[in-house]
Amino acid sequence: MKNNKIFFPIFANSPGLVYLDSAASAQKPASVTGGMKHMMENAYANIHRGIYKLSIEASALYDDARKKVAGFIGADAGEVVFTRGTTEAINLAAYSFAGKFGAGDKVIVGGAEHHSNILPWLRLRERGVEVEFIPVLPDGALDLEWLEKNISESVRLVAVSGQSNVIGLVNDAALVCAIAHEHGAKVIVDAAQMAAHAKIDVRGMGADFLAFSAHKIYGPTGIGVLWGRRELLESMEPYQLGGDMVESVALDNIVYRDPPGKFEAGTALIVEAHGLGLAIDFLSGLGMERVERESLELTLMAREKLSGIDGIRFLSHPQANGLVSFAIDGVSPFDIATLLAEAGVCVRAGMHCAEPLHASLGFGGSVRASFGVYNDEDDIGALAAGLKKAMEILR
Ligand code: ALA
Repeated sequence: MKNNKIFFPIFANSPGLVYLDSAASAQKPASVTGGMKHMMENAYANIHRGIYKLSIEASALYDDARKKVAGFIGADAGEVVFTRGTTEAINLAAYSFAGKFGAGDKVIVGGAEHHSNILPWLRLRERGVEVEFIPVLPDGALDLEWLEKNISESVRLVAVSGQSNVIGLVNDAALVCAIAHEHGAKVIVDAAQMAAHAKIDVRGMGADFLAFSAHKIYGPTGIGVLWGRRELLESMEPYQLGGDMVESVALDNIVYRDPPGKFEAGTALIVEAHGLGLAIDFLSGLGMERVERESLELTLMAREKLSGIDGIRFLSHPQANGLVSFAIDGVSPFDIATLLAEAGVCVRAGMHCAEPLHASLGFGGSVRASFGVYNDEDDIGALAAGLKKAMEILR
């Protein structure tokens, strides 16, 4: 998006920076960094414990952040659990929701997932749970016809990304939910990438759980969200036990708080939650529809500019939003990324924590350029020029 670099101090502090690794982590606007600093310097204390002004102010900012998250995804604040990130959110669901699955139960997982939406489910195999994967079509899209044919009443959960961190296509999560629900299965959506590029409405989508991280939507590291339907959160056991998640403790009788409190043991992610709320304010100020549209335009432009390179093979979908991933015949992705880095262009090389996806599409690794709201046509030009130069050196 044009002219948004001014909101992000990193670009003034690192002249010439072409940052194309937002799918790994996005840069932070001054409103987030400054707002977190302001809170720590002016309105900081532990929350929900003190009856003095600073604690009351900090508690209000924390509670407010939860409401902002709820508004961002179309949920109720009482259904928003703060976690350390997407990974912890998915692990929480795997432990607390899927923890009682056993022999005879099945979980179906998307075929284009990040390891964090694979490994917690694969571990269920140790308890006899069958885990199957939705195949990926040659263009990277999920084969939802396979899902329709293979889902059955023994499937308890479908775990799928809203948008793969390598393929970049926004999946039809609403269709996945509709198919799953017809058979009584619940759906968890890994929205780590999607949250940065598409408007999320958990009710419209029909999901049962949804996870995302703050740091990929211009907020701080260390905080993310597990949203879950209230009745599901109520039925689940807490993942961690300790302070702040209990109503009362007698040695022979423990009463947990209602969700989301019972899933937030220990001192809360107080400043981080405020930072996440500020990141949501920032994105809402830009407008998610505009973010989605302009990010797609930029991605299509990047794909077109790169497609002339001799020997390039894309993993990312032609309609990907926010990233292009590719390999070039006979050239190591790491060599490409190294030469791009020397030209000031930051991309990611390797498997991007999605080894099974690379294997299923026949790629040994890839280069990924991913875009944030600060990227513009000039950045795409720098990527294309840098890649052309790198190929002159490497060939
Ligand atoms: N999940 C992050 C990525 O795709 C780290 O790069």
